[in-house]
Amino acid sequence: MCGITGYVGKRNATPILIESLTKLEYRGYDSAGLALLKSGNFNVIKKTGRVASLANEVAKKQIDANIGISHTRWATHGGVNDANAHPHISSDGKFTLVHNGIIENYENIKNFLVNQGYTFASQTDSEVLVNLIAYHYEHRTSPDTKNRFTESVRKALIHIEGTYGIAVLGKDFPEEIVVARKGSPLLIGVGKNEYLVSSDVLGFAGRATNVIYLEDGQIASITCDNCDVITMTNSPVGIDIKEIDWELENADLGTSKTYMQKEIFEQPKALENAIRGRISDDLSTSVLNGLNITPTELRQFDRILFCACGTAWHACLVAEYLIEKYARIPVEVEYASEFRYRNAPLDKSTLVFVVSQSGETIDTLQALRESKRKGFKTLAITNSVGSTISRESDGGLYQYAGKEVGVASTKAFTSQIMICLLIALYIGRMRDLSFSEGREIVKAITSLPNAIRDILKLAPQIEKIAKKYSHYNDFLFLGRLSEFPIALEGALKLKEISYIHAEGYPSAEMKHGPIALVSPECPSVILANDAEITPKVVSNAQEIKARSGKIIAITNTPELFANIADDIIAMPNLHDSVRVIATTIPLQILAYYIALERGCDVDKPRNLAKAVTVE
Ligand code: AGP
Ligand code: GLU
Repeated sequence: MCGITGYVGKRNATPILIESLTKLEYRGYDSAGLALLKSGNFNVIKKTGRVASLANEVAKKQIDANIGISHTRWATHGGVNDANAHPHISSDGKFTLVHNGIIENYENIKNFLVNQGYTFASQTDSEVLVNLIAYHYEHRTSPDTKNRFTESVRKALIHIEGTYGIAVLGKDFPEEIVVARKGSPLLIGVGKNEYLVSSDVLGFAGRATNVIYLEDGQIASITCDNCDVITMTNSPVGIDIKEIDWELENADLGTSKTYMQKEIFEQPKALENAIRGRISDDLSTSVLNGLNITPTELRQFDRILFCACGTAWHACLVAEYLIEKYARIPVEVEYASEFRYRNAPLDKSTLVFVVSQSGETIDTLQALRESKRKGFKTLAITNSVGSTISRESDGGLYQYAGKEVGVASTKAFTSQIMICLLIALYIGRMRDLSFSEGREIVKAITSLPNAIRDILKLAPQIEKIAKKYSHYNDFLFLGRLSEFPIALEGALKLKEISYIHAEGYPSAEMKHGPIALVSPECPSVILANDAEITPKVVSNAQEIKARSGKIIAITNTPELFANIADDIIAMPNLHDSVRVIATTIPLQILAYYIALERGCDVDKPRNLAKAVTVE
């Protein structure tokens, strides 16, 4: 949700801000804007639409300033138009701000400010904050206040309810950016005689290797050669500089047409990275030091709760099948957004996992905090090294899938399942899973990347099928047992990037309602790769065929569907533990080609954004 960047140094800020903003565009693409501070004046340029349109406008103006802030927006309050685009300027013209988050009490503050004579040019919640800063500067800090800029921001923020990552410029402070965060990510890149600000390390690509992760409740004052961090109670904070691993963060498109295509095809590598160093052939188990938990401690837990959102939530549903099957521990899965407010009674011997590709999803972060507040050991599975979730959890496992830029998650999903499988194996081998069963799973895990390489070769066949079905406006996705979450994920992928209505169901559940949708206009994608249940799925397929529904079968028993399905994608026979990871691949490719056929922007689907940092 929205990307923030900032620059203060000796160089021309404009190209640096535009380049960083382009890298952050996947976080939101409703509008883009930047503010430069030069000779005591703000130059603010903002535009509805993509960063490329902003770049064109900026190029016409040719402003060479050494300090600036910029923003790419995912609208929460106020429509998508130029007036609501950030940066916003206080009505006295003294401050300009970019904001990521939601100011929940903005209406009350706005009423107060209107009474004080401040005026508003947008419908955003963010404009309220910049005016509140101006108010505190004017009325609540005297001219001789030490660090008056930071102090005005700090005093304003005390009154804010909600979440924010902000970067602020002040007309009276031509060499300083003030940034702060609560709930939304904010990072400071450390260069030579310069500092950068960004919502994500990607914004620093090629410009900074050292980074300061601002924590919630911290405010920083940044000039080209200094960065001071304080808390909301005005105590200084020691700075901890971390190094970015650029190999993990690499987000070059290379020869691929889209990030989604690149990321689908990167899955064998992503899986290899998830496994690397985490398998013990000798012991037929996994080695998960990152969990930060001893085997004795782990044995104390007799329940596991998983919390996540969207695709990561689907990965948790698969985890439930895998862990219950191999480790024989009951698993519950909650939407992170529900968990926080539901106040569900949890058994004291519950271990909590949160799963998040970005490590910044606010619902998941709040679930993590809620669980920790209640005293539960809370571990994280995330793909983003240094992310807030990874920093705040008690331990966890990085996915190492490499940067995922496409808004529709692909490689992160399969790698999350792989990490969950490693956990199932680890706990399973501590309990009742035998050495030989463990060995079978280890074999399946290590041979999976190559099996996926072969499945990816089906892309041209799937592309043809996609072309044939791209004009349908409703789809059903059906799968049983652990393929049910994969059906949900297949439906979500199609919805997200092609705007086609799609629903995922357990195949047998279809006859309890969704079968009413079956018609020649509503094709069904049927997953049938689990020999134990396939005969039942075949019957479900017959029920659809009897009602003239079209069927695409993704199955390792194509012969059973030969007379039923209209199209068949033949899958290899894989071990039960890894099968669903493989089944996901054709669904991603199908959604991808259908979306392309419909002319959709697969990397930046409408209304969506990567890393949802607002509730
Ligand atoms: C995936 O395709 C989605 N865009 C979305 O559901 C995503 O998985 C969800 O927002 C959770 O993100 P996270 O893994 O970064 O926490
Ligand atoms: N609430 C702000 C707006 O609507 C910022 C949204 C965001 O974080 O993307 O403009």
